[in-house]
Order: sequence, then C-alpha cells, then structure tokens
Amino acid sequence: MQVLHTIAQVREARLAFPRLGLVPTMGFLHAGHLSLVERAQRECGAAAVTIFVNPTQFSPSEDLDRYPRDMPRDLRLLGQAGVDFVFTPQAMEIYPPGFDTSIDVGGVARVLEGAVRPVHFAGVATVVAKLFNIVQPTRAYFGQKDAQQCVVIRRLVRDLDIPVEIVIGETVREDDGLALSSRNSYLTPEQRAAATVLYRALCVARDEFAAGERDGDRLRAIMTTALLTEPSGQIDYVSVAHPDTLAELGAIAGEALASMAVRFGPTRLIDNLILRP
Ligand code: PAJ
Repeated sequence: MQVLHTIAQVREARLAFPRLGLVPTMGFLHAGHLSLVERAQRECGAAAVTIFVNPTQFSPSEDLDRYPRDMPRDLRLLGQAGVDFVFTPQAMEIYPPGFDTSIDVGGVARVLEGAVRPVHFAGVATVVAKLFNIVQPTRAYFGQKDAQQCVVIRRLVRDLDIPVEIVIGETVREDDGLALSSRNSYLTPEQRAAATVLYRALCVARDEFAAGERDGDRLRAIMTTALLTEPSGQIDYVSVAHPDTLAELGAIAGEALASMAVRFGPTRLIDNLILRP
C-alpha cells in the first residue's frame, strides 16, 4: 500500500489503475468506513482512501481540534484491507495560501444539518470536489449514515457534471443499533447507553410506516416521543423529508427520509432510515 502526501504523488500513482474506487474519510476508521473500502475494491478492482480532517467543514465553535485521530492504526487497517493507496495530505497541500473558492450546492445544504452548521456543506462539497479532481476515481463511496451529505454530493456531481459515479453504502451499526461513528468515542458510558435511543426512535417510525402511517407530522411526533424517553439527549431536529429535495413532508406518497440529530453533552449524534413502502 502506498502512503502519499502530495497531489503530484497521487496523480502519478493513479496512472496504474484503469478503474479506481475512492473512499474519502477523515480517519479514525471503523467498520463503517471499511465496508465502503471493501465494496470499492470488489466493484472497481482497486481502491484508494483519503484521510484528511477537513478544517473548512468545521465551524470555529466545533470539534476540529479534538476530532479523534490515530494515523498509525488507520494505516494498519487499510494495509490489512489491501487498499492500493492512501492520500493523507497536510492542510497546506489542499488549501495553499490564497485559496478562496467555495462551492455552494444550494437548498439541500441549508436545511437539517446545514441549518445548525451553516458552513459545513460548503466545506464538504469543496473538499470532495477537490479530492475528485485530484484522484479522478471511477466511483466514489459514501455512507448512508450521513444521509444529507449523500444528497449534497449527488447534487454536486450532477450540477457540475463531475464524471464520478456515486455509490451509497448501508449504515453499519453496533449490535444494539447505534450507528458507528468516530464521534461515539467522545461518549461517556452513560451517554453511550442512552445513545441507542436514536435507532429505537427510527425503528418506531419504520414500524408505524410499515403499518400504513403516511402522515409526516405524526411520524415526527412519534420519533420525538421516543427520543424524549431518554432525557439526557437534547433534540436538535427530527425530520421526515423527501429523500432527494430534503423538503419536510406532510402526506407521504413514496419514500421518505426519517432523520434526527441529538446532543449528549457536547457530542452531537445523527442517524437516519429511509422509509420504503
Ligand atoms: P467521515 O466522517 O470520516 O466518513 C467517511 C465516510 O464513511 C462517509 O461517507 C460516511 O458517511 C461513512 N460512514 C461513517 N459512518 C458510517 C457507518 N456507520 N456506516 C457506513 N458508512 C459510514 O464524512 C466524512 O468523513 C467527511 O465529511 C468527508 C466526506 C470525508 C469530507 O471531508
């Protein structure tokens, strides 16, 4: 496995692969990331991973400095997985002095996570566009765990005609349903136990939907009630939205994206399920 730090090295390494799957990450890897890596290898025959804690997607008040990092472990896991190359740039390589461009993908970036984190998706869209231009993958793999990020990336690629196929992998969960996340490492044992309430609330919505409930307001209320059984969690939002436009739904005709953000102390957790008829 090659470990590369500069754009020039990546451009050189890229030439060896007719097809390449890319998994962009911020490191501190877990089985969710590795499931995307495995799929990229299977489908493309070669896989590259980027590890870059992208400063522009964190607001000044957020957790950039305390974002968990363990590069030696990440590289060991990716080596064992048989990844072809890893790109781990310094911030200066991605954002040299004078860098001043930002991609605004519009409405889908302003609701939900975007309403709480105003600069977040411009940072994500800009760095992902750069990583696509640097690595030039055939396909790029993202996790359903970050549902709105998937919508934003699809929109970015469609609106700017970026020739990369976007593939979305299922959310990987702990046995008790908690979605794997690098941020779970911040939780105290009590918060970790309480955090299972997100998936429980989503399952209640899924069950009601399966039983025929198609009223967005009622589904949001059902999830809110379920979340309130865990008073240590502070609800940021509960949403039942159109899976492509992210507009909140009243009467649901087809599929809907049920999602939520809940804070446990300083740690903010998100989760979602697609409700399918
Ligand atoms: P990061 O949080 O490291 O996640 C990297 C990829 O792993 C994302 O596509 C994310 O959705 C996926 N992922 C995270 N947890 C998952 C889980 N439990 N199951 C399946 N997939 C999961 O998302 C980012 O980094 C950044 O915003 C990035 C796209 C790299 C841009 O900086």
